[in-house]
Amino acid sequence: MSSTPPPTDRPRPPRTAAVIPAAGRGVRLGPGTPKALRALGGTPMLIHAIRAMAASRAVSLVVVVAPPDGAPEVKHLLDEHALPERTDYLVVPGGETRQESVRLGLDALPEDISAVLVHDAARPLVPVDTVDAVASAVRDGAPAVVPALPLADTVKEVEPAGTPGEPEPVLATPVRARLRAVQTPQGFDRDTLVRAHAEVAVDGEGATDDAGMVERLGAPVVVVPGHEEAFKVTRPLDLVLAEAVLARRRANDGF
Ligand code: CTP
Ligand code: MG
Repeated sequence: MSSTPPPTDRPRPPRTAAVIPAAGRGVRLGPGTPKALRALGGTPMLIHAIRAMAASRAVSLVVVVAPPDGAPEVKHLLDEHALPERTDYLVVPGGETRQESVRLGLDALPEDISAVLVHDAARPLVPVDTVDAVASAVRDGAPAVVPALPLADTVKEVEPAGTPGEPEPVLATPVRARLRAVQTPQGFDRDTLVRAHAEVAVDGEGATDDAGMVERLGAPVVVVPGHEEAFKVTRPLDLVLAEAVLARRRANDGF
């Protein structure tokens, strides 16, 4: 006859956290408020991104990495906006590079978190189905999962010109069908991502892609289908597209 083990011996259910790096300035979007705090449909981009993560039943904690001196302002924003109550929220100050900001977010994770999604605040409109797909692939045992899409444009590798605008010699043209444009949330086994951030050194501006750091550890990384609405708001035209996507959603939802 089987007996139920005492509560302390039971494996704890795996908890998933989302870390949202939101500490960038948004230089390519132009001067003004830090990018994550700029409005989209009247609501800060960061709030959209937080809601997108909290909408997933898999996510029980959201860690927001605020601009280095902006943590109090971000905490205030979280208090002002309605967010799902079954999710916990933490705000920590970020760093000089995205890589540093993600590491500061990881440092704030409680012990019982076993899986982590890292999601750019600059991808405010990612659908919950994409978040769920990444989270469940991690729960099924993949150490690193990346949502990605095939490319529309052909890509050329060049020797970058010293002066902007100068012609650049082409070195290679990778076969487009083998290329994918990667998005977020990227999902990880917590220990794997923490090890990548501890062991992988990246020069200059740091890594812009967490999965790339895991690859450098030699751990396997898999790609799952991304979504066109998970695009990153980088340049002014992206804001126009984001407003249009939001307007379409609101029309479809009967607002
Ligand atoms: N990010 C961060 N900390 C940094 C730099 C970037 O948390 N020091 C975050 C951004 O807030 C964004 C995500 O990383 O959510 C992706 O970065 P990117 O799109 O490059 O945003 P920015 O760095 O803000 O934009 P830019 O590079 O144009 O300044
Ligand atoms: Mg940047």
